[in-house]
Amino acid sequence: MRSESSSLRKRRYGALLARALSSPVALLGAVSAACGSPSPAASEGGGSGAPVEVETAESQPSDERAPDVVAEQELVGLRRAARAAGKLIGAAVEAPALRDDATYGEVLAREFDYVTPEDAAKWGALSPAAGAYAWDDLDSIVDFAERQSQKIKGHTLIWHQQLPAWVNEAMTAEQLRAALESHIELTLTRYRGRVRAWDVVNEAVDVSTESGYTDSIFWRKLGPSYIEDAFRRARAVDPDVLLFYNEVGIERMGPKSDFTYTLMRELLERGVPIDGIGLQSHVSTHRYPAESDLRANIRRFAELGLRVNISEADVRTLLMPGDQASRWQAQRVAFQQIVGACVVEPGCEGVTLWGFSDAYTWINDDGSADDPLIFDRTYAPKPAYDGVLVGLSGVLPELGENLVANGDFALDEESWSAPGAVLAVADAIDRNGRAACVSERTGGEGDALAQTGLVDRLSMGGPFSFSAWVRLRGAPSDTVNATLLLQEAAPQPRALSLATVGATDAGWVQLAGYFGLGFEGAVTAITLELHGPAAGVELCVADVRVQALTAP
Ligand code: XIL
Repeated sequence: MRSESSSLRKRRYGALLARALSSPVALLGAVSAACGSPSPAASEGGGSGAPVEVETAESQPSDERAPDVVAEQELVGLRRAARAAGKLIGAAVEAPALRDDATYGEVLAREFDYVTPEDAAKWGALSPAAGAYAWDDLDSIVDFAERQSQKIKGHTLIWHQQLPAWVNEAMTAEQLRAALESHIELTLTRYRGRVRAWDVVNEAVDVSTESGYTDSIFWRKLGPSYIEDAFRRARAVDPDVLLFYNEVGIERMGPKSDFTYTLMRELLERGVPIDGIGLQSHVSTHRYPAESDLRANIRRFAELGLRVNISEADVRTLLMPGDQASRWQAQRVAFQQIVGACVVEPGCEGVTLWGFSDAYTWINDDGSADDPLIFDRTYAPKPAYDGVLVGLSGVLPELGENLVANGDFALDEESWSAPGAVLAVADAIDRNGRAACVSERTGGEGDALAQTGLVDRLSMGGPFSFSAWVRLRGAPSDTVNATLLLQEAAPQPRALSLATVGATDAGWVQLAGYFGLGFEGAVTAITLELHGPAAGVELCVADVRVQALTAP
């Protein structure tokens, strides 16, 4: 059984290799074939050279059985840069766009070496009726990717969204279990040897629930063991494919990432076959993980023995004020930071973008159109394209000097005020350096810890990184905000929210975000304020920073 499938794979990659080597235009020929016009290079047996035997790994899942068959010098753009970096650069792909838009296929083939079906492999898409399977869309994506010598990640076997209507609460636990097992078996068997990796379980964690698990039909009927059962079943069906857990909102360190980390560690300790983890990374220009945060998170998952993927990256811009040029520059920085962090962390094997043209992004589906991807709607590369390209060379954005005066409170209260409360600077408790504490707060405007005089320092408009550490006294938890007040032509200043965090009296938490200014006319004053907890609660603040972000 095993040696038979292994020799099948040898034949397939041998043919691919021969085809790719036989003609320098094989890639382009195959694109046009996918888009409707016949191509001799893409047709079966189109290659002229003798098939080359490629050894396959027998011991455990690895990439050796799917070698890179196209030479680096034949590649261009992101694909070439990713190969040079030894990382994968992927994109989510929509079957209708691939079918109907020739340029979509051309750009996909040119720029990416890893393909994820955006919707075509979801359970609801594959099995609209009980017992019936519609493979056409997924087949078309897998066929295309193979013609382009792209690797493929299946997404996703088990997710509580986009389920078939026939998977519902009326099912008994036994029926649901049987349906899941059969779905895993049919899908993995069909693409065995062709798909490099599968997202086996997607988004099973939700720390807003009591249990920490997503309140899904699977969790309700089967309990959390459905997760490990799915991985074990998948491994039994295909011993060679890489099995991934995929999750939203775990890019940064924090309660959800911590919960997922512990879950992965416990499952791995029990021998559950999980090969990798995907950090989705749906972010925006004002909110994405700091470099150190993302890298530390990648590292801890990698230290569990997991391959780490950035699996669904996109960067919304419309929550940031300013014109398109400044929003797109901020987006470039964000992409460069995410991709660059992956490139410099050995445990990260690649970045998949959740689409590549703003003409086709799921963000547009819910009515809130945005421009979160790296090509515009006409396939012109945006600054974000350069962010990915430069990030692939391992160059990360740079943070400039701290633009906040006396941000570390080394000069005591200098440059700071809290006119309606009592401001005192002292050695910080439980951390190095000094901290400013605002007490006897009455709930009025003068409660905030404020610094004015930032006009000259922030006049270049951004993008900027903001960070401060905050702690409470007098309440176990409350919200703390950072706001910029911009005094422009209007009589009242315009408030721009920089960051919000749930602070506690148990330790310091970081209040952090990214921002751009987007001035509305001449600005005469800019004030930074840290504020929020209820009257009477003391707010302590340390290490306040605003730094310009540049993308070399
Ligand atoms: C999205 C697709 O992009 C949309 O086309 C679809 O309508 C909804 O799902 N997390 C995931 C992805 O794991 O499967 C989701 O994809 C985006 C969020």
